[in-house]
Amino acid sequence: MALLKIARMGHPVLRNPACAVDDPTASWVRRLVDDMVETMGDAGGTGIAAPQVHQPHRIVVFRVPGERLTEMPGDFAQDLTVLINPVIELIGHEEGPGWEGCLSVPGLRGVVPRHLRVRYRGTGLDGEVIERQAEGFHARVVQHECDHLDGILYPQRMPDHRLLVFVEELQRHPIDLAEFLAETRAV
Ligand code: NI
Repeated sequence: MALLKIARMGHPVLRNPACAVDDPTASWVRRLVDDMVETMGDAGGTGIAAPQVHQPHRIVVFRVPGERLTEMPGDFAQDLTVLINPVIELIGHEEGPGWEGCLSVPGLRGVVPRHLRVRYRGTGLDGEVIERQAEGFHARVVQHECDHLDGILYPQRMPDHRLLVFVEELQRHPIDLAEFLAETRAV
């Protein structure tokens, strides 16, 4: 296992679409995933996609910690999940705003609208298909990570860049999101 260098916004690997993995059970995939998990843990992230460690392959890993869950009934905590060649199907049209951060955009947070319900499908390291429905924060994490595979970073999804802020400033000057959005109706 090894800690990998994380690509930051501006590096071309983050804006190019990643390539499908021919054989999800290949040994290089397992090694890369082990390193991604170690790198994510070291950096304190919730998820990481292979392009973020300069590897342009369609692989993501994430966790859904219980303390971030929304009130939605289908929002469940998830242990470490590895998805190779994931595909997301959006369910319905309902979207909601929420704070996001990204290891490739260090020090910042932004409010991003995401679909509240999705179905996703991908292959695990054992070659078995993983298929789940997700809501709320779980759905947000999957959409954020899979965006990386299409060369999209969360600031590109933001309709109002007044809500792109430094974490340190946000801690000093908390934003009441519901109030902000009610006043501006921007997101
Ligand atoms: Ni990210």
